[in-house]
Amino acid sequence: MVTHKSTSSHTPVLLTETLDALSVQPGGRYIDCTLGGGGHAAAILENSSPGGQLMGIDADPQAIEKAEKKLEKYKDSVLLVNDNFVNLQTISHKYDYSPVHGILLDLGLSSLQLNGGGRGFSFQHNAPLDMRYNPKQKVTAADIVNSTSEARLAYLIKTYGEERNCYRIARSIVKERPIKTTQQLTQLIEKTVMRKGKIHPATKTFQALRIAVNHELEYLETTLKQAVDLLGFQGRLVVITYHSLEDRIVKQFMQKESRACICPPTVPQCMCNHIPRLRLINRKVITPSSTEIGQNPRSRSAKLRTAERITTQGDAYANTEDHSFITIAKSTGWRKPALMKKIRMAFIAA
Ligand SMILES: C[S@@+](CC[C@H](N)C(=O)[O-])C[C@H]1O[C@@H](n2cnc3c(N)ncnc32)[C@H](O)[C@@H]1O
Repeated sequence: MVTHKSTSSHTPVLLTETLDALSVQPGGRYIDCTLGGGGHAAAILENSSPGGQLMGIDADPQAIEKAEKKLEKYKDSVLLVNDNFVNLQTISHKYDYSPVHGILLDLGLSSLQLNGGGRGFSFQHNAPLDMRYNPKQKVTAADIVNSTSEARLAYLIKTYGEERNCYRIARSIVKERPIKTTQQLTQLIEKTVMRKGKIHPATKTFQALRIAVNHELEYLETTLKQAVDLLGFQGRLVVITYHSLEDRIVKQFMQKESRACICPPTVPQCMCNHIPRLRLINRKVITPSSTEIGQNPRSRSAKLRTAERITTQGDAYANTEDHSFITIAKSTGWRKPALMKKIRMAFIAA
């Protein structure tokens, strides 16, 4: 168990669990793809000293500025990059920053962005309908709300917000636009949809717009693939998600990358020659304790998943003596005879 101190105004979620999952060690090299307030980053640096290094990425220039101050005492060990994590591979090549011991993605937005006002992320603060992590990006939430067809708006709200009232909300938006502020949009949704239970009726529409503006789901999928390539042998990939759409992507990605065969179940013999590159560390997702949720209610929906890189030679894997069928089957944790048979078939086919 590693120790930590937290001093940032955005309270890092699942901090101890994240450090354990990353298996932070002195002298290790890490990438924090979602620097935010720098809370996780500071703890990683503290626990990887002496000799630890961290590259922190954030799309939001304000986050970089704040984190720079917070990480001042580690300045010789830190590289901060204001960019989108979808460019992870390019960034890492540019700074010759691979292989690494661990990569962290703590998705979504920080409390600083949510409560900072002026960014348009929250229906609780009146602000221009913006929602961009990076203000240099062209399309804002207002652009989407005011120029998208009713059908497309309903689709976005349904797909990214899992909102049952998507059609009614989309119809009201189109009728009332132009909509320029978070308050206008919130009031319109409150008029359109009856409040049921604890969750505010605008919550899901705001989530949907934020995901659409920042291409959150597409970028997550692309980045996970790049992240695996940058991990050294036994390097850890740790992802914290805050809603089911993100979590599904991470879960399916890690499961697929840890399987020896990804053929459809109807295929009698393996034909995919898929080589597992990851091993699942926690089969069951890690969630915050009730104490953490009590202290930081924002953490209540957090889910942490971890996987470990099991080979750095993906393509050569099947043919090397060190990585024989039995070694892989054991290291990937498969014990069931039917699955072992499938893995053996994959090797024979390869
Ligand atoms: C939940 S906060 C991270 C908080 C951080 N772990 C801490 O301890 O303070 C998420 C951060 O990721 C950033 N972010 C979200 N999507 C991004 C992307 N595609 N590329 C780069 N940064 C992104 C946001 O700007 C935000 O600052």
